[in-house]
Amino acid sequence: MILTVTPNIALDITYHIERLTPHTSTRVSDVKDRAGGKGINVARVLHSLGHESMAVGFAGGTVGAQIREDLDAAGLRYQLLPIMGQTRRSVSIVDATDATVLNEAGPEVTKHEWAALVAMVTELIKQASVLVVSGSLPPGVAADGVADLVSVAVAADTPVIADSSGDALLAATAAGPTLIKPNGPEIVAATGIDDPMAAARALMADGAGEVALSLGAEGLCLLSGEGALVAAPSRVVAGNPTGAGDAAVAALALGLAEGWGARRMVGEAVALSAAAVAHPLAGGFDPEVYREMLESVEVKER
Ligand SMILES: Nc1ncnc2c1ncn2[C@@H]1O[C@H](COP(=O)(O)OP(=O)(O)OP(=O)(O)O)[C@@H](O)[C@H]1O
Ligand SMILES: [Mg+2]
Repeated sequence: MILTVTPNIALDITYHIERLTPHTSTRVSDVKDRAGGKGINVARVLHSLGHESMAVGFAGGTVGAQIREDLDAAGLRYQLLPIMGQTRRSVSIVDATDATVLNEAGPEVTKHEWAALVAMVTELIKQASVLVVSGSLPPGVAADGVADLVSVAVAADTPVIADSSGDALLAATAAGPTLIKPNGPEIVAATGIDDPMAAARALMADGAGEVALSLGAEGLCLLSGEGALVAAPSRVVAGNPTGAGDAAVAALALGLAEGWGARRMVGEAVALSAAAVAHPLAGGFDPEVYREMLESVEVKER
């Protein structure tokens, strides 16, 4: 079972309208609600691939109840800790030209609530082949929150992937994760090093076992002690790139769980994430595009 932690789960609400005009009122006929957050997306992708996953996080208030209902409907296994605060919502208003997103910060999580999550992961990791920690931390949790969870996996000798940004990424790196998956802008912003490849090598020196550096439509570069492999999709896919990184993380987690070699890991990550772009919702992927990409993706040494 692959355990995915989403420290700041959200209910993703999508309003489809014809045209967004600020300062007027607009009738919305098409509304979709869905449990979201990066670790949830990873769990959804693994579930679609037929691999067992367990999604972990917090749920509070009526929005938390909606999250549980949606995960039940999707058939995902989960354990969510009840908290005092209200789970956040993220509203996307999609019209013919563009999307406008309103992101709530999320509930204040207390020290006790965070400690309870760490304790829950410490228990669940005994049944896990890989731990994935994805996404931002909720208000009230210090930047070393992701590092707490990485340390649980390191102590249990279980492979762990951290997908985070800023100081949380740096602190997670120092805790010695098996792999981190920043995108280009994230790694530059976190390290202050302008060249993403140089930044990736710096993070390996700081404690990351491997770095999967995702490069948007250009693909993904996997840096490890043995060198660097780059894979690019055979074409640029049009669609929704939000959640493509999460699909890449799902493939990388599966690779660690099943002991794939580096070439297969990058190839699968690029194929699955391209297929995720072709799917309208984060956490989904297009199986046809996945097959097409698996056959055509090129993996090179760099
Ligand atoms: N337009 C595209 N066509 C094909 N593949 C793409 C495209 N955009 C992204 N990808 C694939 O998805 C992977 C992840 O994309 P990206 O680097 O944008 O991740 P990200 O910013 O972490 O995404 P998110 O955090 O929103 O899930 C890339 O490494 C690449 O393989
Ligand atoms: Mg990302």
